[in-house]
Amino acid sequence: MRKQIAAANWKMNLTLQQGEQLLDDILSKPHSLKDNQEAIFAIPAPYLSMAQSKLRNKEHVFVAAQNCYSKKSGAYTGEISVDMLSSLGVQYVVLGHSERREYFNESNSFLADKVNICLENNISPIFCCGEPLDIREANTQNEYVGKQLKESLYHLTEAQIRKIVIAYEPIWAIGTGKTATSEQAQEMHAFIRKNIELVYGASTANSISILYGGSVKAANAVEIFSQTDVDGGLVGGASLIADEFVAIINALK
Ligand code: 13P
Repeated sequence: MRKQIAAANWKMNLTLQQGEQLLDDILSKPHSLKDNQEAIFAIPAPYLSMAQSKLRNKEHVFVAAQNCYSKKSGAYTGEISVDMLSSLGVQYVVLGHSERREYFNESNSFLADKVNICLENNISPIFCCGEPLDIREANTQNEYVGKQLKESLYHLTEAQIRKIVIAYEPIWAIGTGKTATSEQAQEMHAFIRKNIELVYGASTANSISILYGGSVKAANAVEIFSQTDVDGGLVGGASLIADEFVAIINALK
């Protein structure tokens, strides 16, 4: 069975003390992660070390960075390298979030470079894709997302792409309280899986976890996660509230 994942994306929120408290609150509440399930916390970079030492020995719980740079090391002031992440034991990194694409001009080809350096260094990208509202309204979302996948991922070998987690996040549903319907999520997730199948075959396509992101909360997680091709969620706002995120973990199938 594919991995089912509840991933928290704290974005640029919380102080160190608030972050520690939130992790403590979440860990103290009953949640049952089965063998095929994971909870991942995408934490602001300054707190990765704190989160890593708190979560290191917890089964099925992992820390992720929210970004990294495409170069191994050097004069890139302010950037975070994969070696830095590896030295902390961080195994996942969120790449290509729409906020990075929009505010920091991250292109599909730049993201391909980041994907490469992560995989070369045994860090699994949680690769985000998803269309803006005008593309959804024009009903060209499949072409748009297909292009994102093609230009950032389809140069990878089969063994490499199996290490990627994909997060489909329609931009019009992020932070808006307006979720895609579970049918819209399923439709796009099935399209993404089919698109991967055309390049890599059914076995690889069926092995890749595809998460939905965009206003996931405790109240809608069970319904969204119940869809055949939805393997969990990448959660912003609701991941900052312990009870909400624990309920989302418990909604995994
Ligand atoms: P919200 O859950 O706040 O809509 O954010 C989704 C998201 O961007 C997760 O990466």
